[in-house]
Amino acid sequence: MTKTLLILPGDGIGPEVMAEVRKVIDWFNARGQDFEVSEDLVGGCAYDKHGTPLHDDTMARAQEVDAVLLGAVGGPKYDALDFSVKPERGLLRLRKEMDLYANLRPAQCFDALADFSSLKKDVVAGLDIMIIRELTSGVYFGEPRGIINEGNERVGINTQRYTESEIERVARSGFEMARKRSNKLCSMEKANVMESGVLWREVVQKIGDTAYPDVELSHMYADAGAMQLTRWPKQFDVIVTDNLFGDLLSDLAAMLTGSLGMLPSASLGAPMANGRPKALYEPVHGSAPDIAGQGKANPIACILSFAMALRYSFDMGAEADRLEAAINTVLAQGLRTADLIGEEGRAPVSTSEMGDAIVAALDA
Ligand code: NAD
Ligand code: IPM
Ligand code: MN
Repeated sequence: MTKTLLILPGDGIGPEVMAEVRKVIDWFNARGQDFEVSEDLVGGCAYDKHGTPLHDDTMARAQEVDAVLLGAVGGPKYDALDFSVKPERGLLRLRKEMDLYANLRPAQCFDALADFSSLKKDVVAGLDIMIIRELTSGVYFGEPRGIINEGNERVGINTQRYTESEIERVARSGFEMARKRSNKLCSMEKANVMESGVLWREVVQKIGDTAYPDVELSHMYADAGAMQLTRWPKQFDVIVTDNLFGDLLSDLAAMLTGSLGMLPSASLGAPMANGRPKALYEPVHGSAPDIAGQGKANPIACILSFAMALRYSFDMGAEADRLEAAINTVLAQGLRTADLIGEEGRAPVSTSEMGDAIVAALDA
């Protein structure tokens, strides 16, 4: 059956890492799969062409396909733009209008990189945790928002807001994920200082008590959670948290795995008519303007995001395993993009050399 993919490479290193994903897709298509790929603009490049970071036609197309793959958006060229047309708004619109409320951000430490994390090897070796970030609400979208004049100064306003049903549906995603893994869920908020955190904790506890009594549920303040993630991350299995805390904690988790260039994500919504969830897959990292255009970007986060697409959109778990194993193989062989090289002074491979090596390892 045809599987439709909309690829949105975006800005900066987005197109560079996405070119390597295309090689992987070609490899699968050459072996009997039927991925039908279309490509479009998002972010700064869409603004340059259309005056908006996401054209309505692109938005409509995203709603129709089986899965969207996105590279990255943003860059210094667009920093001075009005907020309403910033590249990041294109991505936020996709997430909101597709209602992708559950953002899965797994942090897995590949064996070959256990030495490379900024933390001690025994702290990160074998690490495999899953952060589920609520993605369509909270302070990212709450009203009122804006910059207003008050007396003789300006005030910047954002509103943290969560409804019970928004908390409930992402909590359920957390519990379901816990059941598929080690049956342990930790929910993070700041119920000590925020009413939205009080409600978050109450709702998660209630869902746990009533629908998932078999899952071991704990609660942690998000600041303490950040500390515990660096102290002993292996105490966690699945973490569920809000939009902003999830953004911060997943960047932190990236460094447990060695590099932001290693962290994939899946943003999932409700099932479509065909039973597949609405889905967008993207690396956790951004457009990395400091290294864009130099062939230095690590394509692994983006390739791992495609592996998540195989797993969550196409029921191709065995193929996802195979792709992850190929990445493990090339890392074990010692191939490293520049972000994965510390003081040891070995020569880095380029973005495309890394992609080629992963495709070659798929054949092995
Ligand atoms: P960033 O993730 O782009 O970069 C942070 C650091 O990590 C940089 O030093 C960069 O070189 C490095 N890095 C990131 N990805 C890498 C990779 N694949 N390989 C090697 N090194 C990598 O974050 P930033 O610098 O804070 O943001 C830059 C722009 O990207 C901003 O406009 C921001 O809004 C945007 N952004 C977009 C997304 C997204 O599209 N999902 C995510 C985060 C940031
Ligand atoms: C991420 C990014 C985005 C976010 C930006 C680019 C909108 O940091 O995906 O983690 O803050 O969610
Ligand atoms: Mn982020």
